[in-house]
Amino acid sequence: MKSHIAAARGRDPATANASSLEILLTWPGVQAILAYRLACRLRRSGVPLLPFAVSYVSRAVTGIEIHPDAKIGPGIFIDHGSGVVIGETAEIGENVTLYQGVTLGGTGFQSGKRHPTIEDNVTIGSGAKLLGPITVGHGAKIGANTVVVEDVPPRSTVVGNPGHPVKVDGRKLTDGPDADWIHLPDPLQDAVKSLSARIKELEQQVAELSGDPGPDREEPGGEPKKGRSSAGG
Ligand SMILES: CC(C)(COP(=O)(O)OP(=O)(O)OC[C@H]1O[C@@H](n2cnc3c(N)ncnc32)[C@H](O)[C@@H]1OP(=O)(O)O)[C@@H](O)C(=O)NCCC(=O)NCCS
Repeated sequence: MKSHIAAARGRDPATANASSLEILLTWPGVQAILAYRLACRLRRSGVPLLPFAVSYVSRAVTGIEIHPDAKIGPGIFIDHGSGVVIGETAEIGENVTLYQGVTLGGTGFQSGKRHPTIEDNVTIGSGAKLLGPITVGHGAKIGANTVVVEDVPPRSTVVGNPGHPVKVDGRKLTDGPDADWIHLPDPLQDAVKSLSARIKELEQQVAELSGDPGPDREEPGGEPKKGRSSAGG
């Protein structure tokens, strides 16, 4: 109980003026983890029904659903909590922080290991969905509302849908064209640009041969031609 209150104090500035009793009675993330610890022990002792009943009541009170068979290490902190789902085969290391709306779920109806493994010191932002038996490397940060369906490298920052690394070891991925995972080359756009430039060049050559100044050329000594573009639109 003390360690979970300490985790809340260490990572939630809102605990600054709250007593330990207030945190225990009114921080849903702390309550949900304590209920999970109880459900987990009951389950490992082979007690029927009760583990799921504890989990069910905990979800009703806190809005956080943790399967009693999930494996969760020490120092976890769930901030705000509502809408968090941690599936049966999820594994969470030490000192992990989750915000509201995080899902550690499966991708479909498969059985066996089907939920994510989260290594130590990972932070997962609000609304992030991590799906499938992927591994999130230690110290990684998952941005709010990110959808992650592939492994995440250690100490990286992953954002977007689908989630992609934008930083590793605190450095942005901008070294060399292949390292920039955001601004990937777009061969289709490059081809269209090249064709467009070629058409313009040919139009100018035709205009010169026919004596017509062409749609994009200025009238000698006058304003540029106005009107609809030959490209339509
Ligand atoms: C991802 C996060 C942890 C920041 O990690 P960081 O390593 O410090 O990364 P940065 O802030 O330097 O951002 C890196 C890039 O990702 C972008 N980014 C950050 N968070 C993002 C998100 N959730 N979605 C999309 N892009 C995001 C930044 O704009 C920046 O883009 P740029 O390189 O084009 O400038 C943080 O933005 C986040 O989402 N935290 C979750 C907090 C939360 O859920 N709070 C709820 C409180 S109730």
